[in-house]
Amino acid sequence: MKLVRTVKELQQELGKQGSKSGIGFVPTMGALHEGHLSLVKRSVAENQSVVVSIFVNPTQFNDPKDLERYPRTLEADLALLKHTGCKFVFAPTVDEVYPEEDTRKFNFGKLEKVMEGKFRPGHFNGVAQVVSRLFDMVKPDKAYFGLKDFQQLAIIKNMVKQLDLPVEIVPCEIVREKSGLAMSSRNELLSPEQRENAVLISKTLFRAKELITEKNVNDLRNWVVGEINKNPYLDVEYFEIVDDEQLQTVTDWNEKNTKVGCIAVFCGKIRLIDNIVFN
Ligand code: PAJ
Repeated sequence: MKLVRTVKELQQELGKQGSKSGIGFVPTMGALHEGHLSLVKRSVAENQSVVVSIFVNPTQFNDPKDLERYPRTLEADLALLKHTGCKFVFAPTVDEVYPEEDTRKFNFGKLEKVMEGKFRPGHFNGVAQVVSRLFDMVKPDKAYFGLKDFQQLAIIKNMVKQLDLPVEIVPCEIVREKSGLAMSSRNELLSPEQRENAVLISKTLFRAKELITEKNVNDLRNWVVGEINKNPYLDVEYFEIVDDEQLQTVTDWNEKNTKVGCIAVFCGKIRLIDNIVFN
């Protein structure tokens, strides 16, 4: 496994792999955990050469404090990646990724007007900026994204379509702790009591899945918000039950599409997201 810091070095290394080598790519912001590693392992199983990027992308943080406190643990990340079979870790500086300011404005229509897009203005534009730049640098055949960030995945698929990029987007299942809590780099910022209480988020989502035969969509939505807000450590920002393609609010369980419940919850200052597929 080789750590590369510049685009030039990355492209030289990838050039040495030969033209027919399939490149798998896992973009991350580091502070790696088993969720990230599941993407890396799948990528290693499906490609000749795997590149993992570690880059805390400033353009996708709408809150400067969130960017400042985002965990940065490169040494530990390298130790975790060492045994996965990943060939290259690309950890560029901000200037390397953005030699000039990226002023592109993407238009994701209604996909970006709900949930994360609504509560984190500019977030997905920043995600699209960095992922399109990273795709251009790595030129992957396949790129791996977690379903934990359900809306991000929909945005990336849409971006690939809009820009007509020759890359296959591979969605990967959510990895959870034994307690059910969805793994996240931000979990590291929780105090032990916060972490214990945050388990209620996934617990309520799992229970909600069992209740779809008893409650209509709106009642279930309100029930989830109420259950989680009862806990003094937790404050729901949104919980939406949406279709899995356009991410628009579902009103009836009988609608044909696949329905997903997406949630964002503040646990103190730390914002956690999770989701559950209802059918
Ligand atoms: P980051 O939060 O580091 O996540 C990197 C990838 O790991 C994303 O595709 C995310 O969905 C996936 N992931 C995180 N936690 C997971 C879990 N518990 N189970 C499965 N997959 C999980 O998402 C980003 O970084 C950034 O927005 C990025 C795409 C790298 C652009 O900067």
